[in-house]
Amino acid sequence: MKGVIIAGGTGSRLYPLTKVINKNILAVYDKPLIYYPILTFLDAGIKEILIISGRGHAGQYLDLLGAGTQFGIKLSYEIQEFTGGIAQAIGLARSFADGEKILVILGDNIYQERLTNAVEAFLSQENGAKVFVKEVKDPKRFGVPKINEDKIVEIIEKPEIPPTNYAVTGLYMYDERAFEIINTLKPSARGEIEVTDLNNYYAREGTLSYQILKGEWIDAGTFDSLLHANLFIARNIKNLPQFHFKEEYPINNKNT
Ligand code: DAU
Repeated sequence: MKGVIIAGGTGSRLYPLTKVINKNILAVYDKPLIYYPILTFLDAGIKEILIISGRGHAGQYLDLLGAGTQFGIKLSYEIQEFTGGIAQAIGLARSFADGEKILVILGDNIYQERLTNAVEAFLSQENGAKVFVKEVKDPKRFGVPKINEDKIVEIIEKPEIPPTNYAVTGLYMYDERAFEIINTLKPSARGEIEVTDLNNYYAREGTLSYQILKGEWIDAGTFDSLLHANLFIARNIKNLPQFHFKEEYPINNKNT
């Protein structure tokens, strides 16, 4: 399966940290934030990855990650010209996906869970989509699933009265029909093509499976959650997947 990292957006909730640096490049303990979704993919055996970023920040990703050779992966890039919503960004991955199923992750989400089994299970699922949910204290901030007898019947984006205490996290698996479905979606009240509307298509069809995450999940898009991400990684670094190489400062003679 191929992987897509959604790394556009303005990072307005982290201003002024995001005035000149894209949110997904900010430091989380010893790595830029986007290294964590890359590690999640790499750990699950996904080595063909598309990074979708906004116009103003694409150069930062190229400088930081290049072709992906140092990670042992193959990176491609796509530009989202305007912040039209997460599903609109996913739609830009159509030619990259080339008729295959895809795994999508939001560039500011950090997962402790290993995905190898979930990827295998989804590849053997005939069609549909899969989301990953986590019990949270503040579901109003997220997409929240209505669950009926072990099935997600609907997801409500940032509900006033959450139907459950679960958040639909920023990790999604889609069959090859996702791009056709995205083309039928209309912008929401906030003017975005919503990933929740894409997921609800599959929920209505009865083909949206879900998995409850056991490990930590952090959406690092606010000051408090970015701080939490730093502390969590610092304390748990030994129990998390690591790259099999050490990035060194690239100067030949370090004493000069
Ligand atoms: O973190 C999980 C939540 O992510 C889900 O529970 C929600 O259902 C989902 O809508 C999303 O909510 P957020 O309000 O956190 O999304 P945000 O606007 O912060 O965007 C998430 C990431 O996607 C962020 O890194 C920026 C990127 N993005 C966002 C938009 C709207 C893009 O690359 N392009 C976009 O057009």
